[in-house]
Amino acid sequence: MNRDEDFILPDGKIVRHGNYERIVHWLVAITFLFLFFSGLALFSPFFFWLSALFGGGQFMRMLHPIAGVLLAWLFYPYAWRLRKDNAWSAVDAKWVEHSVAYMEKRVEFHDTGKYNAGQKMMYWSMVPIIAVLFVTGITMWQPWFAGSFPASLRRVTSLLHAVAAFVMFIGIGIHWYAAYWTRGSIRAMVRGTVTKNWARYHHPAWFRQITGGKD
Ligand code: HEM
Repeated sequence: MNRDEDFILPDGKIVRHGNYERIVHWLVAITFLFLFFSGLALFSPFFFWLSALFGGGQFMRMLHPIAGVLLAWLFYPYAWRLRKDNAWSAVDAKWVEHSVAYMEKRVEFHDTGKYNAGQKMMYWSMVPIIAVLFVTGITMWQPWFAGSFPASLRRVTSLLHAVAAFVMFIGIGIHWYAAYWTRGSIRAMVRGTVTKNWARYHHPAWFRQITGGKD
């Protein structure tokens, strides 16, 4: 549990994400969006027109790997901080079992902690995917590192880079939709706070931990 979150304010709202989490999360999201669109422009001539959004092909090509390093640099310390709240538990298997019912709002009660199994799966998938993107990206980085790797290896790493980017796009797409679907969730990441009802409904075990079971 971090110092600047997981406590109740005098007005009854619960602080779910502290300042550090919110600032870093949105920097990660913006960096991801830049990487995704500039990556598409680099991937296929069909999307090259997107480079006009980023100062043209040459400039965008220079920025893309720098943003990749920035993403890893921002993400890993943030992920490290969130690791305990994302530890897998027996309750999570139940959540997965009932996930369709949850999405259809049929199951009223899941004894989930701060993050549910869907969020944890997103978290644990991003940990290796960003590492794969980082390492494969380094092998392709012109003019600095690419020359140190044989062309045959770079053919494999560029394929892996594209596959990892695609998986990340799907993962973040689901994450984005889940955030939009769960009313009150975007507010949690923008303002930092949630209502007691929101916490009780979506994350009851976390709610009990904060209130000490009194509410
Ligand atoms: C692109 C737009 C994005 C939106 C709209 C968005 C939205 C959100 C929201 C609303 C939450 C809070 C959920 C809650 O309090 O229960 C959240 C949490 C989180 N987001 Fe995002 N996000 C975006 C991109 C990203 C990206 C690119 C990453 C990382 C690669 C990311 C990683 C996380 C993590 C790790 C959490 C905490 C959940 C956990 O640890 O399981 N997000 N996001």
